[in-house]
Amino acid sequence: MSDKAEIARAVELLKAGELVGIPTETVYGLGADAANPAAVAKIFAAKGRPADHPLIVHIPGAAHLERWAREVPDLAFELAEAFWPGPLTLILKRAAGVPDAVTGGQDTVGLRVPGHPVALDLLRAFAAAGGSGGIAAPSANRFGRISPTTAEHVREELGDAVALVLDGGPCAVGIESTIIDLSSGLPVLLRPGHVTPSAIEAVCGALPAAPTAAAPRASGTLEAHYAPAAPMRRVDGARLPEFLDAMRRDGRRCGVLAHSSPGSDSPHVWKMLPAQPAGYAHDLYAALRELDHAGVDLIVVEAIPETPAWQAVADRLRRALAGAGA
Ligand code: TXA
Ligand code: MG
Repeated sequence: MSDKAEIARAVELLKAGELVGIPTETVYGLGADAANPAAVAKIFAAKGRPADHPLIVHIPGAAHLERWAREVPDLAFELAEAFWPGPLTLILKRAAGVPDAVTGGQDTVGLRVPGHPVALDLLRAFAAAGGSGGIAAPSANRFGRISPTTAEHVREELGDAVALVLDGGPCAVGIESTIIDLSSGLPVLLRPGHVTPSAIEAVCGALPAAPTAAAPRASGTLEAHYAPAAPMRRVDGARLPEFLDAMRRDGRRCGVLAHSSPGSDSPHVWKMLPAQPAGYAHDLYAALRELDHAGVDLIVVEAIPETPAWQAVADRLRRALAGAGA
């Protein structure tokens, strides 16, 4: 765990316009002072991310909302009250002075208070030291690749491009935050996550709407994303033994991401994930990364249930399948 001295060093780096790897409860972020366009530009360079993709600004608490957003609706404060600190990002109209580098030139900004003690300590210390109080941070992976859920993964992804990685242990949630767009009145779900539509409904009185084709760009919403280098395919649990047997006879080695059918038949590599969505999400990215490193010919994902509780996991798997082997 990061101590006070490391937090102080991270604050100095942020104020000097450098990048810091930050643990959050969802995934690790690659952070820069959100008020410093030159620092934010370093994020895009380090990730290899297109400059028009907007970043989430992390803030120490809802009291900071109006430093970054304007015309903040009551509903934003209600959602903040219910879910912050936590894995929910709100898209709001941006305040004057929020750099284009952060918003990708859009008139909106993404804001979140992360539910991780190290991230909160850092955000509070950064604000107290006269910083902007906002840390722009995308997931700390190279563009289009698997999001990191440990400090080690961040170093593996970004190496020397990041001055300091604060170690906050493995991320508790394991997949990126739920994104709700409040900028046009009715709440719109841009990215599913640990905070479910029914949890949002409990606060808003209605389920969030699905995005329209004109919805703002979100790199987490690109079809191919979160992808390992190895090719991937999805196979129903019932067909798994037969499929793997055929692969073995072909001399092909698979990495199997399973949750219901345990197996160990070599030469395949098995990763058993919990058979419930929160546990599965928690372990998903680390498991994909491990199978990718195992040098298998193919990553085989046992199909998951098609129920609302699995929506966020299904979303990440679909994008990983679309981008794998690219
Ligand atoms: O859990 C998370 O949200 C993590 C941690 C580090 O906080 N961050 C994260 O950042 O996933 P990133 O950049 O990998 O994904 C942020 C998503 C992107 O899909 C981006 O396009 C979207 O948020 N986003 C940010 N600002 C936006 C805006 N103004 N309008 C629409 N989408 C926005
Ligand atoms: Mg990302």
